[in-house]
Amino acid sequence: MYVCLCHGITDKAIKQAVREEGIGNLRQLKQHLGVGSQCGRCIQMAQSIIDNTIIDE
Ligand code: FES
Repeated sequence: MYVCLCHGITDKAIKQAVREEGIGNLRQLKQHLGVGSQCGRCIQMAQSIIDNTIIDE
């Protein structure tokens, strides 16, 4: 599922960035994938995916 339409980023890509690249917060995710850097509509969803992925570890 697409989370960030502006950058074409899926939930899978975000989970992978958290697990494999050590991304731990929205700021890092923004720098890494660009998520949330345009319209910002994806920010809440992206944040909860980061949180849930970290909890799952
Ligand atoms: Fe992510 Fe617009 S949907 S910045």
